[in-house]
Amino acid sequence: MTYVVLVPDSLEAKGLDVLRSSDGVEVNAPGKMNRDQTLAAVPAAHALIVRSDTKVDTELLDHAQNLRFVVRAGVGVDNIDLDECTRRRVVVMNAPDGNTISTAELTFALILSLARHIPAADASMRTGKWDRKKFMGTQLAGKTLGIIGFGRVGRAVAERAQAFGMTEVAYDPFVPERVARHLGLSIVPRLEDLFVEADIITLHALVTDDTRGLINAENIAKMKDGVRIINAARGKLINAADLAEALKSGKVAGAAIDVYDTEPPTPDNPLLGLPNVIYTPHLGASTVEAQEAVAEQAAQQIVNALFHDRFDNVRNRAVFDTL
Ligand code: MLT
Repeated sequence: MTYVVLVPDSLEAKGLDVLRSSDGVEVNAPGKMNRDQTLAAVPAAHALIVRSDTKVDTELLDHAQNLRFVVRAGVGVDNIDLDECTRRRVVVMNAPDGNTISTAELTFALILSLARHIPAADASMRTGKWDRKKFMGTQLAGKTLGIIGFGRVGRAVAERAQAFGMTEVAYDPFVPERVARHLGLSIVPRLEDLFVEADIITLHALVTDDTRGLINAENIAKMKDGVRIINAARGKLINAADLAEALKSGKVAGAAIDVYDTEPPTPDNPLLGLPNVIYTPHLGASTVEAQEAVAEQAAQQIVNALFHDRFDNVRNRAVFDTL
């Protein structure tokens, strides 16, 4: 039997090579497909590899009579309706490993940009100015970095922070204390403890009912005056209106934001246009290395699932109760 693997988002060639070199796989990957093209192609597909653009929702699944596997080339599965996939016996997996270093490196690029006003200084010089006083920065050495979410990316950020001579505190209710001790930092039992200690807070958590809107007025009030906040995880971790207020009042000295509650952000997003915020358009995984790695991993997981009954990084484990 030949299995059709549909790739409606752009995927690095290394991933497509894995699929094309597998006997029994027919690859449908013409490049970025629009919604109508995807809906027209999905009835023939046994497996789907998506990035963040393709929405795997009820409408798409209604067209997908033969679909058995969906793999997200990357971490976040916000664009996939997991419950609906489970109901229809479609196994959803992600490919979480390849993005880690790139996202940690972007986090540090944002931390440094914020601490040293690099984007504003660059913009100023482009207007012909030479203004050294205006861009007085803050040193990272000796500062405390609060890491919320101590999974793959949080840990990679912690390792890099150590090289800058920072002290780190992490909060993650799912990670045992010994993991942090092994890396020479402490996991605090309560978020409040991190808020009190951190000069810079960086978010690396998933969006759940417990973490949605975690950066809100109540929690910001517990933070140090002049704290800086970095978000290269997910926009919904932040209550945008509350953070915007705190940025305007100076309670939060600055923020660097790579992710938004809707992407691209709508013009009424209160975080847009603030002078003490640095914006990037969801670039965490946007490196050649990360995209090649997630594409290869996603493709290999499809091959493993189709031919070896091996399922890695399943995001809807309840599906196995239905198979
Ligand atoms: C991810 O979820 O893998 C990252 O946020 C990057 C992306 O969405 O492509």
